[in-house]
Amino acid sequence: MNLIFLGAPGAGKGTQAEIVCDKLGIPAISTGNMLREAVKNGTPAGLAAKEYMDRGDLVPDEAVIGILKDRIAQDDCKKGFILDGFPRTVEQAEALDKMGVNIDKVIEISVPDEKIIARLSGRRVCEGCGASYHLDYKPTKVEGICDSCGAKVVQRVDDKPETVLSRLETYREKTAPLKGYYEAKGKLVTVEGQEEIADTAKLTLAAING
Ligand code: AP5
Repeated sequence: MNLIFLGAPGAGKGTQAEIVCDKLGIPAISTGNMLREAVKNGTPAGLAAKEYMDRGDLVPDEAVIGILKDRIAQDDCKKGFILDGFPRTVEQAEALDKMGVNIDKVIEISVPDEKIIARLSGRRVCEGCGASYHLDYKPTKVEGICDSCGAKVVQRVDDKPETVLSRLETYREKTAPLKGYYEAKGKLVTVEGQEEIADTAKLTLAAING
């Protein structure tokens, strides 16, 4: 099964992708995580992406499309995958179509802006393995330390309030039109993001299996 998780920054795409990929036994592919890894490793692709990411802008289409194409060609994607954060523009969606990828469903996680801001200001991510937490909704067992690998958890550079507003604006302008794109293909299902992560997961799985 090939799925796309669509939604504003902080809607919970990564959190739900982590839960659903375990249940379905398919990988979750986050272009954001791949780009952050490239930045951390100082690769040419990472260095080129960093300035866009820090500002809350999208990385140019051709760079992200190339990264995604290589990733879904890997063996672990043969039985399917969840795309978290791709496509982000109509051009990226068209590129996916041109690659011959059949998408079964697009799950849109819908969350009001005021909740997004609270979620992103409290988000903390592991410097080591990239695991994601929230100070209130998903705290680490030991303050400031990742449950999975024991490295430090920190705030993402692009989770600062002014950058969050810019990311929301970019989402409205460039990514929200994808709802119409996939609705016209009969693939879009919208899930209302809930207060509890587990409640959203139930709705997400029902939308996938429905
Ligand atoms: P990316 O990493 O994809 O960021 P994003 O889309 O802005 O998404 P986030 O990771 O911020 O949010 P999420 O929806 O996954 O929420 P999460 O589950 O963490 O992209 C970063 C940057 O990379 C972009 O700005 C761009 O520059 C570049 N980029 C990436 N892909 C690109 C592409 N295709 N094209 C061009 N550029 C690209 O949840 C957020 C927080 O809320 C967490 O702390 C979580 O614990 C908490 N939470 C989640 N669900 C709930 C709930 N139900 N109740 C309470 N708290 C919750």
